[in-house]
Amino acid sequence: MKEKHVIGDDITFTPIDIGRIGEAMDFQAMIIEKMENKDFFTPLTKQEFVTPIKGRDNVYFLKYKNELIGLVVSTCDIPEVLSEYRIPSNNVMLIDSIMIKEDFRGFGLQKQALSLLEKRARELDLEGLVATVHPKNIYSLRNFLEMNYSILHSAFLHGGERLVLVKRI
Ligand SMILES: CC(C)(COP(=O)(O)OP(=O)(O)OC[C@H]1O[C@@H](n2cnc3c(N)ncnc32)[C@H](O)[C@@H]1OP(=O)(O)O)[C@@H](O)C(=O)NCCC(=O)NCCS
Repeated sequence: MKEKHVIGDDITFTPIDIGRIGEAMDFQAMIIEKMENKDFFTPLTKQEFVTPIKGRDNVYFLKYKNELIGLVVSTCDIPEVLSEYRIPSNNVMLIDSIMIKEDFRGFGLQKQALSLLEKRARELDLEGLVATVHPKNIYSLRNFLEMNYSILHSAFLHGGERLVLVKRI
């Protein structure tokens, strides 16, 4: 693995405020536009950005020299969503989105972000983390499995098949 870009070294990982949601949504649209298989990712709504920002965790920007190169959305206290995902505990963090700009892929930034979210989940005294991944999204799935997430089940979510991944901490 190349180690050219590292969060905390040349890449910043910073929570955003409500005023930056437009920027986050434009970034999300740009990433989805370039995805070969658009079924891999259902765009988050404005409310899905507002909830984490107002809640216990947040939306994070990854920046390289002031350029937005990544987006992470991590949400707590969403019992309705967790019930839809058939997650037995409500005391978990949902990783709702991780996106890295094409030029910055291949440096392990998804895994680095997952480590930071895990640290945050521990600070919040949560029991674990949850994510959903399209079964054919091999790059993302591999990263979650290598970070010791396990596949809880496969479900029909976001208009298609998704693997529900969980990690207890
Ligand atoms: C999933 C994602 C965040 C992974 O980015 P990343 O952490 O930079 O990827 P990695 O460092 O694990 O990359 C490992 C290798 O896979 C390649 N790779 C990663 N994502 C790729 C993609 N979407 N398409 C093609 N190759 C990809 C990298 O170039 C690298 O190749 P190399 O080893 O030959 O250099 C990124 O692909 C992405 O933003 N995808 C679109 C949004 C998405 O699917 N998010 C996850 C939703 S669950």
